[in-house]
Amino acid sequence: MAGGVTVLREQAAAKVNLFLAVGPRRPDGYHELLTLYETVPLYDDVRVTIRPGASRWTYRVRATPPPSSPRLRLPVDLRNLAGRAAERFVAELEGTATPAGIEVFIAKRIPVAAGLGGGSSDAAAVLRALQAHFHDPLTANALSRAASELGSDVPLFLGGGRTIGRSRGEDLEPVAPGPGLPLVLGLPSFPLRTPDVYRRFDELRSASGGPDWPGAEQALGNLLRALSDSPEQLADIAAGLRNDLEPAAISLRPEVGELLLALRGAGCLGVIVSGSGPAVLGLAPSRDEAPTVRERARSLVPHGLRRKVSFISLVSGAR
Ligand code: C5P
Repeated sequence: MAGGVTVLREQAAAKVNLFLAVGPRRPDGYHELLTLYETVPLYDDVRVTIRPGASRWTYRVRATPPPSSPRLRLPVDLRNLAGRAAERFVAELEGTATPAGIEVFIAKRIPVAAGLGGGSSDAAAVLRALQAHFHDPLTANALSRAASELGSDVPLFLGGGRTIGRSRGEDLEPVAPGPGLPLVLGLPSFPLRTPDVYRRFDELRSASGGPDWPGAEQALGNLLRALSDSPEQLADIAAGLRNDLEPAAISLRPEVGELLLALRGAGCLGVIVSGSGPAVLGLAPSRDEAPTVRERARSLVPHGLRRKVSFISLVSGAR
């Protein structure tokens, strides 16, 4: 509406990593990665309100916590990555638009600091909303660059889907989507900080040698073949799941290991930590069986841990 307030709405999907191989630590402190992202239909709702007629650009962010951690206090305004995304986008406009107040409201459903990319996805949703509102002022390259400066997995959420990530995770190669996978996710209410997990990964690697980085491309190739050749052959896909950060996440929060055991015991063909954790995922034998596996996993979790975790079943694939 010309001259008036505009409200933009975006859904921000979560991701899991079906494959995450970690290579050498680089001079910039990041680790070389080879990963396979898969976006999943678990969404934050992101609302961006643009109030024109301001004397300068202002940024406000508010968020309500996810059901998994109802008392969590979330960062607001420019301490929230979504606010920094708005600020970064406006910097790219280089004074070509008249100043406005930008307000972001996020209804969180994706658990925070869980390895599911929620904060990154919210930031990408803000970039997408602003890019559409201002009629695509940024080239695709400029938008990706802005996204990757905000965080390694923010570029993924500009497009979503099944995507290979290289370099620090921002160098993307989309993969043909294929049928969705029946997954059961374990969502703990406790967080894990990504930098802590990478630091523990380095400690474990220097103590006992690392995972097989030179073989990572071949291992990912095997998983991609299983995903494309024989989507019915879930056992081959299960065998190809890999996350090099898993021992580090378990070492920091041993409960993560209990969740993997529960998913395995409940009948998942393969189980894995998502990203830097603590969220976990299991590949269910079929879509029909996924809800039963979910309930069984819930019942297998030790008593003290049960109130700190929720399980959901879904079929992967989301934009
Ligand atoms: O890029 P992002 O801000 O999401 O990364 C958070 C932290 O995770 C980094 O500060 C770094 O400690 C770690 N990280 C890493 N290697 C990567 C991605 C993230 O070491 N490829």
